[in-house]
Amino acid sequence: MKVKKAEFIISNTDVSKCPNEPIPEYAFIGRSNVGKSSLINMLTSRKSLAKISGRPGKTQLINHFKINDSWFLVDLPGYGYARVSKSTKKVFQKFITNYFEKRMQLVSAFVLVDCRHEPQKIDMEFMQWLGENQIPFSIIFTKADKLKPNALERNINQYLETLKQDVWEEAPHYLVTSSSSNYGKEEVLKYIGQLNQM
Ligand code: GTP
Ligand code: MG
Repeated sequence: MKVKKAEFIISNTDVSKCPNEPIPEYAFIGRSNVGKSSLINMLTSRKSLAKISGRPGKTQLINHFKINDSWFLVDLPGYGYARVSKSTKKVFQKFITNYFEKRMQLVSAFVLVDCRHEPQKIDMEFMQWLGENQIPFSIIFTKADKLKPNALERNINQYLETLKQDVWEEAPHYLVTSSSSNYGKEEVLKYIGQLNQM
């Protein structure tokens, strides 16, 4: 799929004020600094459609971007930069959980994880929470440029193994990206294109 048009629509913290067109929607979520906003810019070939920063906590709101006049990409704030917390819910602002619980247009979430890191408790808890709430999701391993191919493959396999042991009988669908090299761009767009057809 080609992205011919990408436009910012609205930011807010209230899911009831998000655009109400009944078109497919995909949301990027994950720890702060994992590269959610950068991935939106890569997919849309726009340098600063979504605001990015080297400092965690840049994205603070629910941001809707309309693609090709027919589906939404949503950039969300990250979780987990306010240090370790006892429960995911505490660090994870209520408006984000509201978003996931109430957003009927959401076709799939994409949980972004940094390919360099071992599975983090907060990501595991969040994926479990998505599962319990029957919210479909895929994993995106980001920053693939930071590892050599062998290390990348090893990390991903270990990650999927941990997921299978801890949480799921089958590992969820996953993709691998690098926003600095455009790696995985076609793959992600193709996957979204397939989901749009369903
Ligand atoms: P929050 O909005 O704070 O939750 O962060 P975010 O997940 O939106 O991350 P963002 O896209 O702002 O990127 C964080 C930092 O990581 C920036 O310095 C980016 O340039 C860098 N970054 C993002 N993706 C990649 C990537 O694929 N490769 C490399 N090398 N750096 C990346
Ligand atoms: Mg961001």
